[in-house]
This record gives sequence, C-alpha cells and structure tokens, in this order.
Amino acid sequence: MDTAGLALFHNQITRYVCMAKPTQSFKYLTMATMTPTMTPTMAPTMTPTMMPEGKLVDDLKIPGNPSVARFVAKLNDRSNGQPLRVLSEEDWQFWQTNGYVIIHDAVPKGHVERMRDILWEFEEKDPNNPETWYRAARKDIEMVELKNTGMVEMYNHQYMWDNRMYPKVYDAFVDVWGTEKLWVTIDRANLNFPVRPELDYEGFIHWDIDTSLNPKPVNVQGTISLVDTDINMGGFQCIPELFRNFDEWVKTQPADRNPFRPDTIGLNLEKITTKAGDLLIFSSMLAHGIRKNTGTKPRMAQYVSMSPALEDNESLRQWRIASWRDRIAPEGYAFPGDPRKWEQTRYERAELTELGEKLLGLRKW
Ligand SMILES: [Fe+2]
Repeated sequence: MDTAGLALFHNQITRYVCMAKPTQSFKYLTMATMTPTMTPTMAPTMTPTMMPEGKLVDDLKIPGNPSVARFVAKLNDRSNGQPLRVLSEEDWQFWQTNGYVIIHDAVPKGHVERMRDILWEFEEKDPNNPETWYRAARKDIEMVELKNTGMVEMYNHQYMWDNRMYPKVYDAFVDVWGTEKLWVTIDRANLNFPVRPELDYEGFIHWDIDTSLNPKPVNVQGTISLVDTDINMGGFQCIPELFRNFDEWVKTQPADRNPFRPDTIGLNLEKITTKAGDLLIFSSMLAHGIRKNTGTKPRMAQYVSMSPALEDNESLRQWRIASWRDRIAPEGYAFPGDPRKWEQTRYERAELTELGEKLLGLRKW
C-alpha cells in the first residue's frame, strides 16, 4: 500500500441510504480499509465493496464534507524530500504556526468573475439590487448554525470544477499533504449577505472534526475567495492560538466539553481578510467559522479542499463519479440540496481535464 493508502484511518464511516431496499436505510457501510476487528458493526447484508444504489447521505450530525476522507493519518512533514510547489518557506512556517495559509491568486481573475456570475444566477438574485438578496431559503437547513449564512446548493458546475482542477490549487494541496494522490471535495459555495433584521445570524466558531479523539483526527479544509473581503464583510475567522496551544488548553477544560465547539472566552479571535482569487487552506484542528457580515457588500466564496484519494473505497468512488456525471448533491444534516434541481436541468456535465478525472476518482492515480 502506498503512502496515501497508509494514511487511511479506521474511524471514518460513510453511510448510504439504500433506495432499493428501504429496510436497510441508514445501515453503516464501512470502508474497505477497515480492520477485520471492526466488521461486527457492518450490517450483515452489506459488504464494503457493494455499489451504492442510492445517494450519499451526511447524517453524522457533524459539518465535515463527506465526499472525501474525513480523517487521515498525517500531513506533509517534508520527510519526502520534495520541494514545495506553491508555498514559500515563509508560507510553510506560517502554516505550521497558525494552522492556516493563504495562497494569493490561486485561480485567474476570469475564473473568479464567472463563478460570481453563476452564483448570482443560481440564487436568482441581482448583485445590484439588495432588495432581491433577502428572500427566504428554498429549503431549511437542519444544521441551524448555518441558517442564513448563505450556503449555495451548487456542487458540480463546470466553473466549480475549473477551480478544483486548476493546477495551482492542486499544487498547494500537494504541498500540504506531501502526496500527489489526492481527491477533491465535492462541495458548495457561499453567498453571505450583510445582516438585516430578517436575515440575522451570529458568527460562530467550531471544529468540523471531533477534537476529543485520540490521536487527534487530521484533515484540511479550504475556500477560494470570490470577492475582496474587508474586516466587516463576514469572511473567515479563527483562533490560531488555540491551534498552537490545544494540548495545554484542553487540560483546562471540563471533561464534558463540546468537542465540536470551543468555549472561546479569553481566546483571541482573528478575522482574516482575503482577495478575490485567494485560496485559504486551514487545518481541521483550527477552530474557525464564518463571521457576521456587518458591511454593505456580500461575501462570496467557493469551498475547495483535497485529501488523500480513497481509491480502495469503491462505493465512495462510485458516488463521487455519479455526483459529477449526474450532478447529484450530498444530502443531509448540513446539506439541504436544491429542490429546483437546476444542476440537472439547466447546466451541462462539467468537462474534466486528466487532472480533474484523477481528482474526482474517475481515473486512478
Ligand atoms: Fe467548518
């Protein structure tokens, strides 16, 4: 097994709803890489290699994107001797110290502009008319913290894939992981409007992973900014000091602390600003959130992350291919989906480069 394969973890479980056999709903489908000692948790009629006849359902009640590995073993520690492709040494040190790094101009301006346009079109809102911005969501989101934070339920548009398979974006994730064999998340975008009385929300701080696990889960997340953000515009906020001092901090916390939400009292919250086209990559151990947009302009971003490819997980690979081919969104706790089905009815299947096919799982590394 190669490095990426070894980087697989034992505690990820991906669940499927089996459409053909309703009585099997929400049975666990364990990963092919799970150890034999874990097989008793599997439903007897399901095997790790069976093809899903349904859809990927994120019902784990945690916000992490289920379309790639939720946890892996380790990030790049530079032991492979490979030169960094995109990050400078200064970037590398910053990443190690703060748990996040910003890669400027990760995608061309033209990519950014057309992504913005398609998000406005998809949301049926006019960038120049704030009266159109505050219509109620088409479908309620179960994860209440995300309510009114402007999630756009689009996942597989050509322009989204163009950013995912843009070489500089990929190379930045190669630097972070230390392997070329990556899959990209099939994730959505964000159009976060200035708050108004009828559309208000609190900025929140969370982890997308269970920080009580030992060893700590390892993963990264990322966003591409589609606008220049200023401090009031509701972009990314995080607590680097907690990333640095987690092990000491956790000793000061009660045993029943919420492993997904830190008590932020006394901690220094940093508000990060980015330019259109910047890629922000952050460690999943960095407590983070969307801040409240108290400005006058919308914040727009596309969520893009990568993690080591799970080529042995045939069910997940097939779901990912179907998601791209048939424009199917994840559904569940954090993913309300688009009741209009615009991705299927209005837009074409995205054309992929060879790199794109590998990042999807259609072509093996
Ligand atoms: Fe998050």
